[in-house]
Parts: sequence; structure tokens; C-alpha cells
Amino acid sequence: MSLLQHLQHTVSIIRQFTPTVPQVGIVLGSGLGNFKAELEIECEIPYGDIPHFPVSTVEGHGGSLIFGKVAGKQVVCMAGRFHYYEGYTPQDVAYPIRVMKMLGIELLLLSNAAGGMNHAFHVGDLMIIKDHISLFAVNPLLGPNEPQLGPRFPDMSEPYSHALIEQAKVIAERAGLQVYLGVYCGVTGPTFETRAEYNMLHILGADAVGMSTVQEVIVARHMDLPVFAISVITDLGIREDHNTITHAEVLEAAAAAEPKMAAIFKGLVAAL
Ligand code: HPA
Repeated sequence: MSLLQHLQHTVSIIRQFTPTVPQVGIVLGSGLGNFKAELEIECEIPYGDIPHFPVSTVEGHGGSLIFGKVAGKQVVCMAGRFHYYEGYTPQDVAYPIRVMKMLGIELLLLSNAAGGMNHAFHVGDLMIIKDHISLFAVNPLLGPNEPQLGPRFPDMSEPYSHALIEQAKVIAERAGLQVYLGVYCGVTGPTFETRAEYNMLHILGADAVGMSTVQEVIVARHMDLPVFAISVITDLGIREDHNTITHAEVLEAAAAAEPKMAAIFKGLVAAL
């Protein structure tokens, strides 16, 4: 079966769970899973019930695709995403994005937890991603191209929609929320960076670094899907007194910043 046939099969099975056509796809990053509480949930499908979806490696944390309403608009939300460091292929990581596009989404919102390198940042700050640097080993578009999905050589001059960034800035300002704009560097993980690596990434032009998002964005842009993404800064890589980072700290900082991120996502969905 070709990628297109896999996608069509996946979509036909999802349609048996719900006929809903979502307008927006939302990917929830580490520690940001409580956004679920903002949803008027209509249907929740465990990833395990969706054919061709990557199979979760962590028992009890399989994740699910949630259909519901936010600000009166139909959305589909990925509660749990797939990471390259878990051993998935880049194509697997990006597969659910293709599925959401085929379900009808016109806009993709992504969130993630990231380490901050910009000296202005504090833990808990929000950074709207204006551009990215991919240091992932493998591009998800490697291999035969499916022309029905997108071009062989996609343009990446504006992966993150300027219009949505401007809209988000207005939403944040009206809500009294401070947001930064910056460049996100995608790395494979699963190690956090060494001090030398944080410094190098900063010199290369990155304001934040994380282990997700870039492959999903590449595939979304391949399909000409407008993208908006935001990082919650959960740790500061270049602080002089920086010593250790734990996953628990990342999750805690992300959860604390979640209401701010949720306000921006809700505002963007409402403005559609
Ligand atoms: N580095 C990479 N990924 C991350 C970090 C970090 O410092 N924080 C949260 N995700």
C-alpha cells in the first residue's frame, strides 16, 4: 500500500468513529496535555484503534485523537505526539499530521516544551516560533514523493505563517501576556544539550531548542497547511549557574505556563 492508500484507510476508519470535519488540528506538547480541559469533547479515539498510526512504546501512555469544540469551532487534538528519539521514523512522527490534513484541517497549531538560549528568557516564558533550524538527522520527506500530497522540493521560506504570528501577538497583548518571538532548533534528543551545545546553538541563531515539532512542520508545509507554533521555555541552557535539567522540571514548567498558551490557541481558533 502506498502512503496515500494508508492515509485513506486511516481516515475511513476515523470517519466510522466520527463524521466531524475539524477546522483546526492541535498538537499538545510535553506537559501541555491539560489543554484537553478547554475542549468540549465529542469523540476520543485511542491511537491504538487507528490503523497505520505509530504504535506507542510506553504502556498506558498511548495517546489519543480527540475531536471536540474550542470557541465554537470544530478541532482535532493530538493528546500525545510521537518523537524521533522514541525510535519512530521521521515519516511515523509526521503521519498524524497528514491524517489531520486529510480529515479537513485548514490550520495546524503546535506546542512544545523547549530549552531557552536567548538571554532575555525566563522559565515559563512563551516563545512564538518565527522560524526553525533543523538539526534532525532525517527529513520526513526523504523517499519517494507523493505528488498528490505536495511537491518534491517544498519551499520553506515561511514555515510559520506571518499572519498568524501577528494575530497571536495581538491576542497576547489584549490578554496582557508577554510573548517573545524566536527561532526554534529541532534536535533528536533524548539527551538534553551540553553547555557547549547550548552555546553553539545560540551562536547558530537559535533562541530555543527542543526534540519535536520540526518534522511535523515540514510535513504540514509539504501539504501547504498553515502552521502556528509556540514553545514554553522550561529551562535555560546558557545560564552561568545552570547545572542540571530533569524531565520532571520540564513538565512542571510547561504545565505552569499552559494557561497562557491555551489563551493564545483559543484566541487563534476563535478568530478563524
Ligand atoms: N533541550 C532539548 N529539548 C528540551 C529542552 C532542552 O533544554 N527543554 C525541553 N525540551
